[in-house]
Amino acid sequence: MMMRRTALRFGFREVATPIFEHTELFTLKSGPAIVEEIYAFQDKGGREIALRPELTAPVIRFFVNELTNFPRPLKLFYAGPCFRYERPQSGRYREFYQFGAELIGNKNPESDAEVIGLAASIMRAIGLDQYHIRVGHIGILRDRMSDHGVDDGSCAKILQKLDKKMYEEARSMMEEAGIPDHAIEEMFGITQVRGDVSVLEGMEGEDIDYLKGVFQVLEWYGMDDIEVDLGVVRGLDYYTGIVFEVEAPSLGAEKQVCGGGSYSLSELFGGEPTFSTGFAIGFDRVLMALDKEGVDNEPEGLDVFVVPVDDDLRSLAFQLTARLRESGLATDVDLMRRSIGKSFKYADSMGARFAVVVGQRELDQGSISVRDMRSGEQRLVSLDEVVGHLLEETRRVSSS
Ligand code: HAM
Repeated sequence: MMMRRTALRFGFREVATPIFEHTELFTLKSGPAIVEEIYAFQDKGGREIALRPELTAPVIRFFVNELTNFPRPLKLFYAGPCFRYERPQSGRYREFYQFGAELIGNKNPESDAEVIGLAASIMRAIGLDQYHIRVGHIGILRDRMSDHGVDDGSCAKILQKLDKKMYEEARSMMEEAGIPDHAIEEMFGITQVRGDVSVLEGMEGEDIDYLKGVFQVLEWYGMDDIEVDLGVVRGLDYYTGIVFEVEAPSLGAEKQVCGGGSYSLSELFGGEPTFSTGFAIGFDRVLMALDKEGVDNEPEGLDVFVVPVDDDLRSLAFQLTARLRESGLATDVDLMRRSIGKSFKYADSMGARFAVVVGQRELDQGSISVRDMRSGEQRLVSLDEVVGHLLEETRRVSSS
């Protein structure tokens, strides 16, 4: 809910894509080896089908098929289950839930800063206290490798080793690819660059300037707790520009709660090459991190619970419930024909902020009784004004 609300506030709109897809959607970029890591099978018609391991490729395919005429940038978000054929362990599941966003537009630092800013705002909005956002640029290493004639396939394999911080394996693959020792040392040195944006001072190149531009926009947005880390490499091989990760240190081994970066996939699905940038948050991991921090993650409670005092007043109680719901207040009404005392108890267990008691005695005076469920204070409000009164009260208590 908070994630959705934050994305909407940033001007992103929700999209949904199918849970199972043609396997090809995921092998086009990553090659057939990816089949080992996903749930891929044949359906009864002999079609190659896969349960989606992520939503970036499906969203870009959707864009190419349906959304290319929409004004840019397109700012899309999604939430849903993903499946990967992994060895399950704490924080790593075969079925997990992702919340993600993709911005399809122009290659400029504003676009990348927008998605990084959204990820950071979501972390704040959900109440996570301990997290680090580290941003790098994969182009810096990719360009150096291609300068030494390393092909895309070998480059992807080397980057995967660097992503896992397996430097010795990376070194032997780099040697095999013909990269001279001094260049290997230089690249390893790049992966160690980490700190606030000042660590980029004195470094040169188009990608470094771009990264500085992203940090400039983040500063305009007032986001000064984001770090540079040129060692962020990312395991997926479609990234070409900015790459970033969010870690929650309380989680131990599987501490990456969010990963993202910029890429272009549209050409794989028959579209024009289009700059895109995005991220996905691992919902299960975020919940674990919140739990470890002791953040109360209960669903938001009800605003109002309506209690008819006797059967004759049920029609009025239900009409009032409908008006309260239409006004936007989360409202429930007694469906169990309970006594007032039991209804209050139930309303309390549902986290209701206010209870409205529809009783004949008060109605005879044109009023209704509104109870503050926290203080127990009860007051009479005129029937005509009760919706407005509750709207005002809920706004007041939620901002205090
Ligand atoms: P990813 O890093 O593969 O990126 O996954 C994003 C997040 O999903 C991870 O940071 C992690 O929190 C969570 N996650 C991944 N695998 C598992 C698992 N087996 N169990 C639990 N949680 C998991 C992507 O998926 C890209 N599509 C992100 C992106 C969007 N890049 C650009 N746009």
